[in-house]
Amino acid sequence: MQISIQLNGKKITEEIRPDLLLIDWVRQHGCYSVKCGCETSNCGLCTVFLDEKPVLSCSILAARADGRKVDTLEGLKEEAEEFGAFIADQGAEQCGFCNPGMIMNAIALFREIADPTDDEIKEYLAGNLCRCSGYEGQLRGIRAFIEYRKKGGAVCDK
Ligand code: FES
Ligand code: FES
Repeated sequence: MQISIQLNGKKITEEIRPDLLLIDWVRQHGCYSVKCGCETSNCGLCTVFLDEKPVLSCSILAARADGRKVDTLEGLKEEAEEFGAFIADQGAEQCGFCNPGMIMNAIALFREIADPTDDEIKEYLAGNLCRCSGYEGQLRGIRAFIEYRKKGGAVCDK
């Protein structure tokens, strides 16, 4: 079947197998930040934005993204790098394996809620498993980034 998807701002039209998963499709196009940690919708590593909303690309067919917009960390570099520095500062980046999924959901949070409560932050990160850090560092990094953004320092504001 033929699909046409705007990936990180670039329109791609091509033939695919109907059973191709979105995670495999984006990786075929060089988006290696999108990783497969579980394949069972449990780890959050495969998070991408589909029409600006975070989705688990391991559980969606590429065909479902036909005619839509898909963004990965590769397309959000400026926002990701700016926020990523706050995560690193708090020692939340240990093995770093969970970071891409965690950052995608944090960016979704920053775009959607100006001043989130701790419960709202936890809700956005609930689908992201981290085996190293205990989540406190990520929470501190997010809070610090929100304070920085309140002072007008962030590029994440839409
Ligand atoms: S690989 Fe998709 S949620 Fe784990
Ligand atoms: S830092 Fe290792 S899994 Fe999160």
